[in-house]
Amino acid sequence: MKFFIDTANLKEIDEARSLGMLDGVTTNPSLISKESVFNQKDIQKHYISICQRLKNEENLSAEIISTDYNKMIQEGEELSFLHPKIVVKIPITKNGIKAIKYFSNKKIKTNCTLIFSTGQAILAAKAGASYVSPFLGRLDDISHNGLNLIREIKNIYENYHFKTKILAASIRHPLHIIECSKIGIYATTSPINVIYSLLNHPLTDIGLDKFIKDFHSKIK
Ligand code: G3P
Repeated sequence: MKFFIDTANLKEIDEARSLGMLDGVTTNPSLISKESVFNQKDIQKHYISICQRLKNEENLSAEIISTDYNKMIQEGEELSFLHPKIVVKIPITKNGIKAIKYFSNKKIKTNCTLIFSTGQAILAAKAGASYVSPFLGRLDDISHNGLNLIREIKNIYENYHFKTKILAASIRHPLHIIECSKIGIYATTSPINVIYSLLNHPLTDIGLDKFIKDFHSKIK
């Protein structure tokens, strides 16, 4: 199972790398707006800095802002020319689907984002998206079952041998990651804190404390 980091923050990406838990990075316009970027040039430089931190098959999903088809194509092409590790992240709209088809024909990788239903996931796969990003946490927020969506998408993709990979997004807590790994999807993308939460267990803390105390009570 792959761990992508959902951030545009270089420190967090470096932290995930040093933890050995970095298989890729996803960003979105809200995340990039939290960084020290004030214009398109800054954003491009920032994306390049992220890409320079990535190895081998790892990649960065960078999202387009435009919603008009021609502008989506222009923006997506600019992103893909910026660095070979960039995957063009495109929202699931009518123009988004057309843009995904366009990039798929050109062998440019895409990540279809803002997926909240199986119907959307089917259209994204049919258009040739490399990845789909179903948003678990935001569905849970409105009392829907995000994990059921992931199960259904996996089932449908297997039925038809779609090559689109499922990259579960909007991950809020460790159980999201654990349940996704039971379902067997390609990857989750989460804030680094959720990965750290996987470490926690009170019996580990108690056990470690006792080991250290026992040792020091005898050995000076
Ligand atoms: O990058 C998309 C997604 O992961 C956003 O998550 O926490 O804003 O719902 P969140």
